[in-house]
Amino acid sequence: MSKLALITGGSTGLGAALLRLQREQGWQVREYSRSGSGADHIACDFADPAVSAQVLAHSFAELAAQSWSELRLINNAGTLEPIGPIAQTDPAASFTHLHINLGASIAATGLFLRHFAHQNAPRCVINISSGAASNPYHGWSLYCASKAGLEAFTRCVALEHANTTPPTRIIAIRPGVIETNMQATIRAQDTAHFQQVDKFRQLHAAGQLQSADQAAQKVLALAERGLESGAVVDVRDV
Ligand SMILES: NC(=O)c1ccc[n+]([C@@H]2O[C@H](COP(=O)([O-])OP(=O)(O)OC[C@H]3O[C@@H](n4cnc5c(N)ncnc54)[C@H](OP(=O)(O)O)[C@@H]3O)[C@@H](O)[C@H]2O)c1
Repeated sequence: MSKLALITGGSTGLGAALLRLQREQGWQVREYSRSGSGADHIACDFADPAVSAQVLAHSFAELAAQSWSELRLINNAGTLEPIGPIAQTDPAASFTHLHINLGASIAATGLFLRHFAHQNAPRCVINISSGAASNPYHGWSLYCASKAGLEAFTRCVALEHANTTPPTRIIAIRPGVIETNMQATIRAQDTAHFQQVDKFRQLHAAGQLQSADQAAQKVLALAERGLESGAVVDVRDV
């Protein structure tokens, strides 16, 4: 029997590195995004909650027809946009942000736990969070709120699945600062939209960003360490 890892946002950045690494470690993989490619890519736009939930449900049902030795869901898809003061933000864009960063992870987790419930395999949900969950940034109210919500969700679902057999773990990992498209977007902001932009430009200039591969290795090493379900861990603290 094989192990199965399902990864949202596996087309670029951290998600693409997680996908590569899981494959190298012998896991079967599927990734859900708009612009991925290849046999393991499933087209999915989390900005559309109804359609993306159908896509996930269909894919998970199909995969759950096989038996797996271990099951993993990595909720990684995310966006920073729209960046800027909330008073100047289009409410529709705020809803879209929350669908992608929070709603998609909630829906994917619920569907994963439901569709694979009958399998006799340990399950783990890894939610990719951010230090922004507890550190406020001017212009990032949506991002900070969505990551804080994701961490609260992690803790609650851990309670719902305590002491299950086979074991079900859900953890949130803050991966640190990574050189991806998201960081390029941050550095391109003007200070009116994002006051702390200079901090991120300096980190980049000083070569202090991790590569996506380095961050993916840390995330998966943490997942393998048997963290208690409900844990929220920053890779920089371990
Ligand atoms: N980079 C950092 O410094 C950093 C720090 C802390 C946390 N994180 C977290 O790490 C995760 C990955 O970010 P990254 O830095 O790797 O950024 P990235 O390179 O921009 O990747 C974002 C991923 O999310 C997917 N995504 C975005 N919008 C989507 C949508 N509407 N529907 C489906 N998929 C969507 C993208 O796929 P498509 O565009 O193909 O749809 C892509 O695969 C995020 O949760 C982010 O919050 C990053």
